[in-house]
Amino acid sequence: MSSNVHVPVLLGPVLDGLKIKPDGCYVDGTFGRGGHSREILKQLNDNGRLIAIDRDPQAIAAAPQSLTDDPRFELIRGESAQLETFIGERGRVGEVDGLLFDLGVSSPQLDEAGRGFSFLRDGPLDMRMDPDSGTSARDWINAVEERELKRVLRKYGEEQSAARIARAIVTAREQTPISRTAQLARIVEDAKPSRGEKKHPATKTFQAIRIVINRELEQLESLLAQSVNVLRKGGRLCVISFHSLEDRIVKRFMRDTSREPEQYRGMPEVPEEFRPKLKLVGKPVVATGAEVDANRRARSARLRIAERT
Ligand SMILES: C[S@@+](CC[C@H](N)C(=O)[O-])C[C@H]1O[C@@H](n2cnc3c(N)ncnc32)[C@H](O)[C@@H]1O
Repeated sequence: MSSNVHVPVLLGPVLDGLKIKPDGCYVDGTFGRGGHSREILKQLNDNGRLIAIDRDPQAIAAAPQSLTDDPRFELIRGESAQLETFIGERGRVGEVDGLLFDLGVSSPQLDEAGRGFSFLRDGPLDMRMDPDSGTSARDWINAVEERELKRVLRKYGEEQSAARIARAIVTAREQTPISRTAQLARIVEDAKPSRGEKKHPATKTFQAIRIVINRELEQLESLLAQSVNVLRKGGRLCVISFHSLEDRIVKRFMRDTSREPEQYRGMPEVPEEFRPKLKLVGKPVVATGAEVDANRRARSARLRIAERT
């Protein structure tokens, strides 16, 4: 099955969180199928500007003409961790009014067997958001050392059976290289003791491999650090995460950037460079029951918002 649809999550809270000014400059760092971009653009006047980024060539190719023909809109193929470069090239550093990152994979990436992200739909084991760069999951899993594999499954999948699964993968690949998603899913399923969990037994393994293949957490740390440089005073940062590893990074970054370093806390005069660069806005936002009923992907979404000071 293939799909070209991605329902944007937490749309209302994102639009509120960005506090959109009709003539502002906004960046959608994870364009996907443009669900959020389209709605942001609707709120801009002729002087407004929206710059969107995605590293997936299919996301770029699928962008509708109604967006790509719009003079207020620009779509960049690339990594969001190049944020400052992209914004610098457009002379907008320090002038961005709002930044959105809706992390992780899109529905079309997950649904299309050919992208190799899905343990439910058999396809070539790839998992690259940008299939033109980096190492495929297939090449990685057939070469990685058992110890490293165990570490990745534990760290990025928070997988309790990491050791067993790593052993099973290494044993299996000695017989036949692992090249299909269903093949990997079966190896994991056979290796993992059944604990009556609702989730598919390979969920955490696939998450871990996807994160490592796409360097997702490194990208996140880097784009967060750059976000404070591109935003103008009063500009908003909105980040939607989908699992605890991502959310922990966003939470820590926003917390640490919204207070002075330890040695200046409580001091009357804090040097400019040590003043907090962000202010937290509200509590993390999760989807309502109605949104989760309508869109399963929203169940684990968590939006955090901060404002550039
Ligand atoms: C959850 S989807 C975004 C969906 C989008 N908000 C919508 O409503 O259609 C995430 C998208 O961001 C892209 N992406 C994830 N991490 C990225 C990164 N570090 N750099 C560039 N694109 C990234 C993925 O390729 C994917 O298309």
